[in-house]
Amino acid sequence: MPRKRTYLLCPPEYFAVEYAINPWMDTTTPVDRDLALKQWHQLRQTLLDLGHTVHELTPQPGLPDMVYAANGAFTVDGTSYGARFRYPQRAAEADAHRAFYEAHGWRHVVPTETNEGEGDFTYLPGAHGGLILAGYGFRTSTAAHAEAQEVLGRPVVSLRLVDPRFYHLDTALAPLDDQTVAYYPGAFSTASRRVLAQLFPDAIQVDEADAVAFGLNLVSDGRHVVLNSEATGMAARVAEAGYTPVPVDLSELKKGGGSVKCCVAELRP
Ligand code: ARG
Repeated sequence: MPRKRTYLLCPPEYFAVEYAINPWMDTTTPVDRDLALKQWHQLRQTLLDLGHTVHELTPQPGLPDMVYAANGAFTVDGTSYGARFRYPQRAAEADAHRAFYEAHGWRHVVPTETNEGEGDFTYLPGAHGGLILAGYGFRTSTAAHAEAQEVLGRPVVSLRLVDPRFYHLDTALAPLDDQTVAYYPGAFSTASRRVLAQLFPDAIQVDEADAVAFGLNLVSDGRHVVLNSEATGMAARVAEAGYTPVPVDLSELKKGGGSVKCCVAELRP
């Protein structure tokens, strides 16, 4: 069953590929900012049409990746665990997110450890009584996994990412509802694959083509699965599993190494 969600987004007003901090970014590829904005508005409207609440951050010049709002914090049960970005180019984004949470009455915890928010953390309220999955290997440190567990009081399972194309957990694994995940096994170490198989025996395992099309970088409300329109194979997989795929075209934002999920932070009160 779908559940109404509250999301935080940031329009790509200053979006650009000015530096390359993941293998998808190529500073010589031209970016069409107007098209990026148009596609982003389409994403926002899609979430509103599904009945969800959308909050917006004010974009800031000089922060071209701010559109990837998922990276600014991770929220569970009304607490927001702030981000501390790996690369200096994105560091100031954390303050913009912090200001939002503090202004909206959240208990906001400023982290000591390097982590990129919902890029590398996800929460499954219906799995094992409430489980946090956390990625490491490229951006978020394992020390941040321990810190998040202390701050949020939920068990955190660390998963090691091994393929640089899937540098954030949200490019390699996605919750489809409160207890079900889909993931691309090739993005994880052998041991982490075993951990996932043990925790989620009924998971949907997707292939490399679906993962490369950013098919796992999705946002689900438990029924509607909003995903990149290029990910046609993934749309078929989720439909087979009984969910309703809702494709959106985010071709411009893919040039920065992100898609639907990267642009959408979920606020869990
Ligand atoms: N250019 C951004 C970076 O490399 C993309 C972030 C994508 N966000 C995500 N949640 N995966 O940091």
